[in-house]
Amino acid sequence: MRQKILGIVTAVTTFISAGTAFAGPEAEVLHWWTSGGEARSAAALVAEFEANGGTWQDMPVAGGGGDAAMQALRARVLSGNAPTAAQIKGPSIQEWYSQGVLADLDDVAKAEGWDTLLPASIANHMKCGGKYCAAPVNVHRVDWIWANADVLARAGIDMPTTWAEFNSAAKTLLGMGIIPLAHGGQAWQDATVFETVALGIGGPEFFHKAFVELDMSVLGSDTMEAVFDQMRIMRGFVDPNFSGRDWNLATAMVINGEAAFQIMGDWAKGEFTAAGKSPGKDFLCASTPGAGYLYNVDSFAMFAVKGADKIAGQKLLAKLVVGESFQTVFNLNKGSIPARIGTPLDKFDYCARQSAYDMEVASGNDSLLPSYAHGMALRGAQAGAITDVVTNHFNSDMKSSDAVKALVAAIKDSL
Ligand code: BGC
Repeated sequence: MRQKILGIVTAVTTFISAGTAFAGPEAEVLHWWTSGGEARSAAALVAEFEANGGTWQDMPVAGGGGDAAMQALRARVLSGNAPTAAQIKGPSIQEWYSQGVLADLDDVAKAEGWDTLLPASIANHMKCGGKYCAAPVNVHRVDWIWANADVLARAGIDMPTTWAEFNSAAKTLLGMGIIPLAHGGQAWQDATVFETVALGIGGPEFFHKAFVELDMSVLGSDTMEAVFDQMRIMRGFVDPNFSGRDWNLATAMVINGEAAFQIMGDWAKGEFTAAGKSPGKDFLCASTPGAGYLYNVDSFAMFAVKGADKIAGQKLLAKLVVGESFQTVFNLNKGSIPARIGTPLDKFDYCARQSAYDMEVASGNDSLLPSYAHGMALRGAQAGAITDVVTNHFNSDMKSSDAVKALVAAIKDSL
C-alpha cells in the first residue's frame, strides 16, 4: 500500500515538474507605503499573504501620495513587464482598465460575496464594466487636523472648529515661537490642505460641483476666491523650511512638539502610533472645520499577467485584503478604517470610530465626497491641472482672484 501511495506521489510530482511547475501563489506588488507607519501596515499584508502560502515580492516606491509610484508603474506596464498587483485607486483604476491591461477579479468577488460586504460607494470604485477589477483595503479620511496635545494645553487652545478659530490659534502659537502648521511643500500636500479648506469654506455641495462635476461657475466663484484667501493666510503659518518636506517628517514635527498642527489624512495617525503615541493623550484628532467627509480608499488592481503562480497570487491577494482579519490588522496600523461592512471596531481608537460614525452620517446626507487630492474624484489630467494652480498659488504671491482665473483656464485646457 505504502509503495502504491509513494508511486502516486512520484507520478504527480513528475507531472507537475514536467509541466508549468506550479510553485504556489506569488505576487509582485507595487505600492508606496514606505514611511514608518505605512511600512508596518504593509508588513501586516505580507505576513498574511505568506501565512496563506504565498510568496511576496515587494516593489515599494517611496514618495507620499503615490506620484512616483504611478510613474514607476507606467514605465513597467509600457515596457511590457507589469507587476502582478499595484496600489491604484479611484478613477485611475478605470483608466488602466480602458488600456486593456487589468485582470478580472469577479470570480473572487462572487465567491467571497463582495457585493454584500462592501458599501456601494466603495464597490463602484472597484468595478470596471460592471465587474470587479480592484480590491479595497481601507477607507482613509482626508479632512483631519492633528495636534500635539501638550502644545495645545500649554498654549491654552482647543481643537479649532472654524477656520477663524484656526487662524486665531495659529497667531497665538506664532507669538509663543511654535510653528502653527507642520507642512511639507509638495504639490500633493498643498492639494490635501486645499481640498479640506475648500470643503470647510464652501461646504459639501460646493465641493461636489467644483471637484467632481468641474462646474466652471463654481470653480470661478467668489467662494473659490475665499478658499485661496484662506490658503494665503495659512502660508504664513508654516515654517520657512517647508519646501519639499515629506509628509511624515511634517507629522514628526507635531509628534516632537516643534509644531502644533498638521492637516493630513489619517495615514498620519499611523506615524503617531508607530512612534508609540496615544490618541487623546499625546495627540488629538478632529475633522477639519466644516461639514462633510472626504474619503480616500486604497485598493489593489491586478494586471493581466501570465503564469499559474501569478494568477493564483492575484486571487489569494484579492481574497485576503477584503477578509476581516486583514481589514482589522492592516487598518489598526494604517490609521484608516475597514472598508468591509461589519468589521468590529472594538480594537480601534476614538479617531477611527469618529471616522466610521461620520462616514455613515455623511453617506446619509450627501456629504460623503471623494478626495480630489488623492485621486478619488477625477481622472489624472484634471486633478493635476487643479493641483498645479493650487501649488503655484501657495508658493508665490499670486492673488486669489488670479488663482481662480487660472483654475478655470486650466480645467478648460484639460478637458
Ligand atoms: C494613500 C495612503 C498613503 C498616503 C501617503 C495616500 O494617497 O492613500 O495610503 O499613506 O497617500 O503616502
